[in-house]
Amino acid sequence: MPEITPRGLTGLAFGGDYNPEQWPEAVWEEDVRLMREAGVTLVSVGIFSWALLEPAPGAHDFGWLDRSLDLLHGAGIRVDLGTPTVVPPAWFYRAHPDALPVTADGVRLEFGSRGAICHSNPAYRAAAADITTRLAERYGDHPALAMWHVHNEYGVPVSACYCDTCAARFRRWLERTYGSVEAVNEAWGTAFWGQRYASLDEINPPRATPTVGNPAQALDYRRFADATMRENFTAERDILHRLSPGVPVTTNFMTALSQCDSVDYWAWGREVDLVTNDHYLITDGRRTHVNLAMAADLTRSVAGGAPWLLLEHSTSGVNWQPRNPAKAPGQMARNSLAHVARGSEGAMFFQWRQSRRGAEKFHSAMLPHGGTETRVFREVTELGASVRSLAPVRGTRTEADVAVLWDWQSWWAQNLDWRPSQDHDARERADAFYEVLYDRHLTVDFARPEDDLSRYPLVVVPALYLMTEAAGDNLRRYVEGGGTLVVSYFSGIVDEHDAVHEGPCPGVLRDVLGLTVEEFSPLLEGERVRLTGPGGADVHADVWTEFVVPRGAETVWTYADGLAAGRPAVTRHRLGEGTAWYVSTRLGTDGLATVLARAAEDAGVPPRDDLPHDVEVVRRSGDSGRFLFAINHSAADAKVPLETPGTELLTGERAAGRLAVPAGAVRVVRLDG
Ligand code: GLA
Ligand code: ZN
Repeated sequence: MPEITPRGLTGLAFGGDYNPEQWPEAVWEEDVRLMREAGVTLVSVGIFSWALLEPAPGAHDFGWLDRSLDLLHGAGIRVDLGTPTVVPPAWFYRAHPDALPVTADGVRLEFGSRGAICHSNPAYRAAAADITTRLAERYGDHPALAMWHVHNEYGVPVSACYCDTCAARFRRWLERTYGSVEAVNEAWGTAFWGQRYASLDEINPPRATPTVGNPAQALDYRRFADATMRENFTAERDILHRLSPGVPVTTNFMTALSQCDSVDYWAWGREVDLVTNDHYLITDGRRTHVNLAMAADLTRSVAGGAPWLLLEHSTSGVNWQPRNPAKAPGQMARNSLAHVARGSEGAMFFQWRQSRRGAEKFHSAMLPHGGTETRVFREVTELGASVRSLAPVRGTRTEADVAVLWDWQSWWAQNLDWRPSQDHDARERADAFYEVLYDRHLTVDFARPEDDLSRYPLVVVPALYLMTEAAGDNLRRYVEGGGTLVVSYFSGIVDEHDAVHEGPCPGVLRDVLGLTVEEFSPLLEGERVRLTGPGGADVHADVWTEFVVPRGAETVWTYADGLAAGRPAVTRHRLGEGTAWYVSTRLGTDGLATVLARAAEDAGVPPRDDLPHDVEVVRRSGDSGRFLFAINHSAADAKVPLETPGTELLTGERAAGRLAVPAGAVRVVRLDG
């Protein structure tokens, strides 16, 4: 399949969201002049402008957008044109108040912010199709048009609506999915608490109930809500494909796990022409560059390994976290180029010019309130030049070393109520395992539990509560064929309906791990246990313990205290040509690093002790060559060994032997040959 890239861009993309409608037209000339000065090549326009494009029902005003696009085109700046369907105008809601979404508690959310949409609402669907059609007819072959940007961040701020229209559609979805009410009763286990339904008409969305509702119903509702949003995306996409052929269509994802949990991006990745992502640092005291790398790896994986595009990030602080520190000097460039290292075909920001009004006026931008004589604008301009010099990496692919399994649906199921411990957090485990792999300088592909994994020497399963039998078989075949697997506790427990697999836990993983788990025994808040390991080593763990019964696996670490004292805590199972490790408790990063070091040895993945801590080294390769990215997140100058000499693209200098990467700097070497 040919890779689909923004039309008319020859190098990488550099730019951001551009909202000319927030400014008098006199400002636009200056915008375009400064964009050129900063090296901007692509801007996203019109995302929130429905009310301006259609000020009254059926009355359109495209004049301002015509002028803006023409001005951009005259300056050689390409346009990612938004369909404005994330904010219908106020007049639309007066006519169709039932298009406003309803929460599980029955509260109808009001107009006056953004994203107040019931995706099942027929009037909304018709109006979205209409404005999309008009935009496509008018701009489908505009010379500035590089790609289409449908909607904005599906899934936030409203992840599901619980209104009567949605209830009716949910029933039809159940009928299509299950065929009959009997099949729904069976799948949902409605014999429990007398929840049996006599007819599909009796079924509602999982609205507020006196106590915990049916978990399988809640899980299916998330699937339904996700599928409904996806239908609305594909409806717009198909209009654009028809009226604007050859122009790629995207919608901006938010794959960072903490930023959007309601969208199954594995399914969405197949529907867009080009995967694009928004990423914001979460400044909660943890290492933000690790979370960034993880989001970028996940985005590339959702794109099937193909190049993708970072459509939004911030030049400095955001405004929606409890505390919003500025970025340190150089941090913006490190962030941008780390995304590029991991497959992004450029670096885009929210937004070009910092707003004076509205909810986001304290969010940083490329052109701050302070204008061009600011640190941020200077760094933006420098970054624009750097991005320009990286044009040769375009179309190349990031090389990965190992795989981590991730599944949004499993995450949804894991987060339902009444689990053995509220302290177990699947995302936290994914973060923790990822961080250890990052610190071993391994580049991670994320994979689906049923994907062919045979090309990876090491596969890590941080927390995969929901696993199908097919996924279990897949992992067994992977290990038998010579792979090394590391599985964390509370994985492989339930099937796609949140029903516990038959027999002892962990159902579909018993054979591959060579053990059963007799009981879970989570720890109380703040409680810790000690584990003893090879050579009298000692580590601590918390949150979770369990009673593991080896059935073929050898014990590597043992619980030294707590209710599980004397029982296996970490095990290793030789199966066929491969090895499967099991970690039955929540190890800190030190403990995990020890286990992963042993597993990496089993997998034949060599340690990268030659690379300094917090110096990120990632490679992209393809027809235009092989590129080594070195990003120094540390405060010390570093050296990175090069396998062959090459040319450093940001400085234009030759590089050989050990590449010097000053503290806080980025280097990108095009390796010879
Ligand atoms: C999201 C949205 C943008 C903007 C930024 C602010 O990513 O898509 O419109 O609100 O957040 O960080
Ligand atoms: Zn609804």
